[in-house]
Amino acid sequence: MKKINLPMASIYSSPNPVTIVCTQKTDGTTNLATVSWWTYLSFNPSMIAYAMAKTSYSGEMVRQNKKVVLTIPGEQIANEVLSCGSTTGRNTDKIKKFNIEMQSLENCDIEIPLHSRVAIVCELKEFIEVGDHYLYICNVKDVYGNPNEKALFAFNGYSQIKSIKD
Ligand SMILES: Cc1cc2nc3c(=O)[nH]c(=O)nc-3n(C[C@H](O)[C@H](O)[C@H](O)COP(=O)(O)O)c2cc1C
Repeated sequence: MKKINLPMASIYSSPNPVTIVCTQKTDGTTNLATVSWWTYLSFNPSMIAYAMAKTSYSGEMVRQNKKVVLTIPGEQIANEVLSCGSTTGRNTDKIKKFNIEMQSLENCDIEIPLHSRVAIVCELKEFIEVGDHYLYICNVKDVYGNPNEKALFAFNGYSQIKSIKD
């Protein structure tokens, strides 16, 4: 084996998972950001975590209102998911700009993309500084699933998003 760095390891580990972090903006609308660095933490109690760059607008919103929904997007919105991963919601309405169809969940004021295989409704428990990212540790409130939607994965690092053929 040859010595490599961690960014290179994240390319070698492709396909990597793809989620959409859905947060509520100050005007009540939803912001969507693409995130690969997430994990299940605990089933009892149900907990998950994800890491986002310190500069992300999504991070600012979740630190403010403690609410977030993580979704596994469906294959129909692969291009939109890539776009949500290269634009900040700080001054752009990504849902309008990329024309993403949305749906609401019961008892949740954050909307999620219509094409979602899984939605994990969370409350932020705490966040920890981890180098150039914050790690957001969340308590899971509700989970929804639709097995008819095919999950997306990031290939070649994070440059291409597609489903896996079975
Ligand atoms: C496939 C893919 C995976 C990504 N994974 C992450 C991630 O795990 N953490 C992160 O901070 N940014 C990740 N990004 C980049 C963010 O989505 C990007 O910085 C986005 O503009 C943040 O939006 P926001 O400022 O509206 O929060 C990823 C982008 C793509 C395309």
